[in-house]
Amino acid sequence: MATTAEPSDGRKGLFVKKPISSLVGKEDSDSGLRRSVGVLDLTALGLGAIIGTGIFVIIGEAIGDSGPSIVLSFVLAGITCMFSALAFAELASTIPVSGSAYTYAYATMGELVAFIIGWDLILEYGVSIAAVAVGWGSYLNELLDSVFSFALPESISVARDEGGTANLTAAFLVLAVTAVLVVGVKESARTNTIMVIVKLVVLLLFIALGLTAFNADNFSPFFAEGFGGSLTAASVIFFAYIGFDAISTSGEEVKNPGRNLPIAIIGSLAVATLLYIAVAAVATGALPFDELNGQDAPLAVALSDGAGYDWAANIISLGALVAITSVVLTLLYGQSRILFAMSRDGLLFKRLSRLSPRTRTPIFLTVLLGLLFALLAALVPLAEIVQLVNIGTLFAFIIVNVGVIILRRTDPDLERGYRVPFVPVFPIIGSVLCIILIARLPLETFLRFFVWMAAGLLLYFVYGRRHSLVRRGEAVNPEAEVG
Ligand code: ALA
Repeated sequence: MATTAEPSDGRKGLFVKKPISSLVGKEDSDSGLRRSVGVLDLTALGLGAIIGTGIFVIIGEAIGDSGPSIVLSFVLAGITCMFSALAFAELASTIPVSGSAYTYAYATMGELVAFIIGWDLILEYGVSIAAVAVGWGSYLNELLDSVFSFALPESISVARDEGGTANLTAAFLVLAVTAVLVVGVKESARTNTIMVIVKLVVLLLFIALGLTAFNADNFSPFFAEGFGGSLTAASVIFFAYIGFDAISTSGEEVKNPGRNLPIAIIGSLAVATLLYIAVAAVATGALPFDELNGQDAPLAVALSDGAGYDWAANIISLGALVAITSVVLTLLYGQSRILFAMSRDGLLFKRLSRLSPRTRTPIFLTVLLGLLFALLAALVPLAEIVQLVNIGTLFAFIIVNVGVIILRRTDPDLERGYRVPFVPVFPIIGSVLCIILIARLPLETFLRFFVWMAAGLLLYFVYGRRHSLVRRGEAVNPEAEVG
């Protein structure tokens, strides 16, 4: 059932807010999406989005910035994410509807900020899907080569900056995952849970085997590139943690969201953080950092060159393929739910939020995004894109932290399934940590980010502002069209 907005003086302003009362307190979502996802599936969804290219590939880039203190970089990035995860948990348990930070911003800071953050999340999810799929293509090549001594032609299997024409392996992954999502959320969640188990087992195997070659001498000098280097590496390896926020995009499909969302958000991040710190310590202990630096498959190299387990390198590669597949699955899912929310509110084209009558999921949107990201995956390089994703995500985290402080003031009595301790101190610390990491990113990353944001603002003023349902006072949480 659609809810009509109360007319208000601020309705025509750029900072018009969605009334929270229209978003909360519902057993069944108004949108027509089904509440079918439980806490275990949800935690698996988080781990599905988190553990992927970051720990399997990007660690080999970041370690060059830091040296052995990469372990500390993982700790710093993990702490930064933990503060933001608390903020996500509070807002997700208070406003459990599709759209994650976009919806929270709409309720707390108004439409313009909401649009900005939604547009920012499109960057985070969209570009990372393409980038992550490129990493998948590299591992596939490596595995085919190692097991079957078979190599796909370079023109269709590597990124353009490495001499390829179109990376069809990366595009194939995105299309295959799109097909799984089209089948429906419950089925996708099951596929995801299996993939998560596989990648956890593979990382634990890495830790067990790598430990046999542990050499403490590899840790000295610990700050090989100074403390500044450790911070820079933290701003890069932050990528490995991205994804726990994707849990909150599924708010409308979760059973008992006030309890399950916070458990899954904080739980999946905690598991990933502990695993990452152990993996980084074991990798550095197994091989001097300069031999890991710049490797495309650093964990496989640590096991084969460092610990002498050549056979295990193939298992790691296979694990990486599975891990990265589940990242793409979860990010594509999160992405479709954010665009769904924006379109339903009239800020993006209405057709995007139409639901399939059979699955009650936005199939048209999912297929459209799948095709778009497959194209992007075929054409983009990995390295620079990662930093662009990081700046976008850190920016979103700041908004969510600030959102907690604002909502505590504007709606102190709202029922919250979870409350961040020591507000406003914790959200302020969370924001400052994000700013510290953003400050370590290169200038061109800032420039690319501003170009993307400027394009979004243009779209908002040309389209979104005119079609916004909240501004028209028509409805604040309308039912999506089915058909
Ligand atoms: N955290 C995700 C990964 O590392 C994006 O692949």
